[in-house]
Amino acid sequence: MKVSKVWPRSSKDMTAMPPPRHRGAAKKPMWIIVLLSMVCVSLIGAYVYPPRRYSACYFFASSVCTPFKDWLPAVTRREKTDGEIISSVVMRDLLSMPMPVSKKPKIAFMFLTPGSLPFEKLWEKFLQDHEGRYSIYIHASREKPVHSSSLFVNREIHSERVVWGRVSMVDAEKRLLANALEDVDNQFFVLLSDSCVPLHRFDYIYNYLMGTNVSFIDSFLDPGPHGTGRYSMEMLPEIEQRDFRKGAQWFAIKRRHALLILADSLYYRKFKLYCKPAEGRNCIADEHYLPTLFKMVDPGGISNWSVTHVDWSEGKWHPRSYRAADITYELLKNITSFDENLHITSDDTKAVTMTPCILNGTKRPCFLFARKFYPEALNNLLKLFSSYTSA
Ligand SMILES: *[C@@H]1O[C@H](CO)[C@@H](O)[C@H](O)[C@H]1NC(C)=O
Ligand SMILES: *[C@@H]1O[C@H](CO)[C@@H](O)[C@H](O)[C@H]1NC(C)=O
Ligand SMILES: *[C@@H]1O[C@H](CO)[C@@H](O)[C@H](O)[C@H]1NC(C)=O
Ligand SMILES: *[C@@H]1O[C@H](CO)[C@@H](O)[C@H](O)[C@H]1NC(C)=O
Repeated sequence: MKVSKVWPRSSKDMTAMPPPRHRGAAKKPMWIIVLLSMVCVSLIGAYVYPPRRYSACYFFASSVCTPFKDWLPAVTRREKTDGEIISSVVMRDLLSMPMPVSKKPKIAFMFLTPGSLPFEKLWEKFLQDHEGRYSIYIHASREKPVHSSSLFVNREIHSERVVWGRVSMVDAEKRLLANALEDVDNQFFVLLSDSCVPLHRFDYIYNYLMGTNVSFIDSFLDPGPHGTGRYSMEMLPEIEQRDFRKGAQWFAIKRRHALLILADSLYYRKFKLYCKPAEGRNCIADEHYLPTLFKMVDPGGISNWSVTHVDWSEGKWHPRSYRAADITYELLKNITSFDENLHITSDDTKAVTMTPCILNGTKRPCFLFARKFYPEALNNLLKLFSSYTSA
């Protein structure tokens, strides 16, 4: 059952070409004979040389084909590559095998940052009194962070340089996942940036994540230049254009999916080689790799929205960033109350899709974290934390 979900059959293969046109031919019986012999020759040809990528009905109208369907060779499909066979068995078993059970499940908070984390004091307030139910990992790609909270001291992992838009961003995410997976008590893995803040109490976030059977990975079909326009034919045959997805990088994923990401080499390699900025299509690996991977290997296992809120409504190159003066109880309550997530396509239609955030069959608030906040917002956030996270 999983297999057919994981490896959807190609519907394109089934598309028949339009019928050949023979207008004016009907009057002459000679044409009928020629036509019939052409059909015969073609049928024999199709039988002897079954086309590799297309169905045997490739050059016939389906109505002509139908009577002969039974004795035509079975529809031939593209053979899977070695890499695809390896990948499909590894993914299938990973998705169905039991995970190690933990008596004290923890959430791994994984910070991807250039340097110091301006909101350590806020996170400290959030984590207070919850020792043993979380762990912290920091990937600092530019400089060694200076800490303002003891909870963050010595939590840096080995880090490497991250170039915006390049696969080195994905590599840093994988480095964080690998370090966090070492602790079998880590059951949920949340990727955060230096400009992220929590929107709820710890218990609320803990129960929200632990109580769900999906991973929160943003994934949607954007037919515009910043979506499908970044697809490259070189990703064929494994990744077809219709499977190419887009989504925000900030994920919160289950242990099984964290392992799956580390187990993937086939799709990762395609993105490493063919999804780069400034090569005509400005492909940003971290915005497409995971959304596309999960669309292909476990589409029903992800929420399709990110639990980290960001405001793109200003329509600029960068999302809205909140300053100290922007931080009010109303703003934070407003963000926490959203129970529909929004996607906008990058084509001329700028089509907006609002999707209700449904977990366990119930509509829920979509967001647990938010970005982007300027460091100067810290004091106002600290002051308001107890009030906006209550209820
Ligand atoms: C989801 O539903 C199942 C069974 O109905 C229940 O055991 C579980 O606690 C629910 N999870 C949440 C987060 O409500
Ligand atoms: C998660 O649970 C819901 C309802 O409890 C169910 O419909 C859905 O199929 C489950 N998804 C996965 C990936 O197990
Ligand atoms: C997420 O989107 C995929 C299509 O890309 C769909 O198959 C899947 O059911 C969606 N997941 C949920 C939980 O709606
Ligand atoms: C709440 O959010 C909506 C949608 O983004 C916005 O139109 C409204 O102005 C916001 N209200 C406040 C108080 O920020």
